[in-house]
Amino acid sequence: MIKFSEDKLKEVKELISHYPEGKEKSALIPLLHIAQDEFGGWLDVPVMDYVAEILQILPIEVYEVATFYSMFNTKPVGKYLFEVCRTGPCMLNGSDQIIDYIKEKLGINEGETTSDGLFTLKPAECLGACGYAPMMQLGKNYREHLTKEKVDKIIDELRATVKN
Ligand code: FES
Repeated sequence: MIKFSEDKLKEVKELISHYPEGKEKSALIPLLHIAQDEFGGWLDVPVMDYVAEILQILPIEVYEVATFYSMFNTKPVGKYLFEVCRTGPCMLNGSDQIIDYIKEKLGINEGETTSDGLFTLKPAECLGACGYAPMMQLGKNYREHLTKEKVDKIIDELRATVKN
């Protein structure tokens, strides 16, 4: 059964308390971030239903938000999520080649995860770091001015952290 731990539930209640009475549903986006972190990096339907129950809103209201924003994953993802920006400035600086290189190197297509569950490739729209194009988001960090060599290094480093 989907349920936050006691500690997490305290955090959730604290978050919701920051919103005026009757406007608790405004906590939906931060709450979805917490839920995504807590339940494996993605939002399964039972998780979204649980969030709806907490906020006392309809499940469809949660689905609409979770499926609209690319920062929420509605399918399982790997331990490391490569969100490669492909909007104009990044595209003009070679994001298509970077995406193709990641696909080839990892043997996956967009939206897919490697069979070892380590990497998912998810093209993204502008992440607000156009001056560092081409770039991608990796967890809470940005990796900038990407080249094939940098991609190799990132993948090697991440694989090494798993082996150790
Ligand atoms: Fe890629 Fe803005 S276009 S970060």
